[in-house]
Amino acid sequence: MKTEISFSAPSQIETECLVTVVLDRSQNGKSNPSLETSDKAVAAAAADLLATGEVSGKMFETTMVHRPQGLKAKRLLLVGGGKADNFSGYELRKLAGAAVRFLKPKSIRQFAFIAPENWTGQADPAAHSTYVFERGGPAEAVKAIAEGAFVGNFDPDTYKSDRKDQSIEHMTIVAPGKQDEARLRRALEEGCIIGESQNFTRDLVNEPSNRLTPTVLADRAKEMVRDVAKNANGFRLSIETHGADKIRELKMGAFWSVAQGSDEPPALIIIKYEPEGAPPKPVLGLVGKGITFDTGGISIKPADGMEKMKYDMAGGAAMLGAMRAIALLRPKIRVIAIVCATENMPSGHAQKPGDVQIAMSGKSIEIINTDAEGRLVLADGLHYARQLGCTHLVDAATLTGACVVALGMVNAGVFANDEEIFQRFSRALKRSGEKMWRLPLDEEYKEQIRSSIADIMNTGGRWGGAVNAAMFLKEFAEETPWIHLDIAGTAWMDDNKAWIAKGPSGIAVRSLVEFVRGFEGDGQPTGGGSGSKGVGTQAAQRRADSGAGL
Ligand code: BES
Ligand code: MN
Ligand code: ZN
Repeated sequence: MKTEISFSAPSQIETECLVTVVLDRSQNGKSNPSLETSDKAVAAAAADLLATGEVSGKMFETTMVHRPQGLKAKRLLLVGGGKADNFSGYELRKLAGAAVRFLKPKSIRQFAFIAPENWTGQADPAAHSTYVFERGGPAEAVKAIAEGAFVGNFDPDTYKSDRKDQSIEHMTIVAPGKQDEARLRRALEEGCIIGESQNFTRDLVNEPSNRLTPTVLADRAKEMVRDVAKNANGFRLSIETHGADKIRELKMGAFWSVAQGSDEPPALIIIKYEPEGAPPKPVLGLVGKGITFDTGGISIKPADGMEKMKYDMAGGAAMLGAMRAIALLRPKIRVIAIVCATENMPSGHAQKPGDVQIAMSGKSIEIINTDAEGRLVLADGLHYARQLGCTHLVDAATLTGACVVALGMVNAGVFANDEEIFQRFSRALKRSGEKMWRLPLDEEYKEQIRSSIADIMNTGGRWGGAVNAAMFLKEFAEETPWIHLDIAGTAWMDDNKAWIAKGPSGIAVRSLVEFVRGFEGDGQPTGGGSGSKGVGTQAAQRRADSGAGL
């Protein structure tokens, strides 16, 4: 999808369809829909619809007006944005996606979306239980619209032989006024990079396991690195991919214990982003679970729904998408991504319950259930990231069914072993508009994974399954500040939604990108604790003062 920003008045824009948001400002049960544009001609064209009560402004309500009077547009689409008090970046992204998905099947290939005006301040804190999403001003609005439109433009029907590409080819965002033109253009570019990168991840997650083996995933990662290098704006990424020999040589006994059961060779993918001028620290480590298919191994899963286990590499794919975006956005921060890719298969050389494995860190692990394989590959991924010098770690994994039981498909689970990194990640969530809810990591839970033959077991019983898995990972993050994202419930959408097709969601890509960008200008204070210049200096200073976790 090509995008542009227009500084013309909405009524003067020649387009197949002009899209405007309608908010519900009803009070005491009295309906009061209002357009999020001050363009008089647009208001006049929609006046009758608003007056009759046909349009209320409720979320995702869509009303199309053909040949709207006084407008250069061929059509006017009113999209409901829900209660005005609640309206934030979280909703705006979805509205852009919903507009795309409404127009696509109508053979419309081009449209213009009016960015909301006066879009600042906090949304009603009661709107979402998790985070108070913001209205971050005109640039954030433009960025959110671009991100949401790309997300809406993706369809998962790759292998249908009668596939018709109905994608939107061109979107114009109508800027809210003339202020700060350069900033709005940059915001559009950022939104496009992030939205495209999210779709890059979704493409990978969508692939079936016969077509996306660990080796193919590694090849796709290399192809992405090449593509990014071609882009004049991109900082070069470096990539290394390794197979079974190197995994054994590195003594990644936990990763190998899963990989040994499959005829398909595993892949260890390492991508480094080391921009010129970046401070030596921090070095952020992004570690992804890349199980290209999870049968459960010898502790085999039931047949029902097993086909979905092709998405068990969504955490790894999220890291690749995030690296793509980071290379194109060029924050001055070092980042290393590690994806541990393998199938989890039952076979004559598969590991068995009761086996004891020695992880790269030297910890011994009693295997209770071979279906708890994600934590095994991540254990070595996290340890390796620390060995490569990462000062902060984030992992993402479709790790537990228990997380889906706890949080359903709305919030991903987030765990942290350090308050400062959690606060940073929370700020990233507010910017990305992704929902995640924190779950605990108290020491008491550690009893659950104590083994009588080895240091730890790979499962911790039925209760608190998402926490037990996270406690296992915590053993390998050790004292490095670390965030763990359990995206089992959110990486795959079971149903079509107004703003997104069913299938892979690309969850975590946007938050990871915002998390990395949040470190910019926030390098570690060197020497006598004096902070570097930039927005994050205070945070760096606080960290130095408290001596926390670095
Ligand atoms: N990949 C699964 C987790 C999963 C479940 C992802 C549902 C997406 C949707 C993971 O490897 C797994 O099998 N976990 C087990 C752990 C158990 C054996 C302790 C689970 O959650 O049942
Ligand atoms: Mn499993
Ligand atoms: Zn799995």
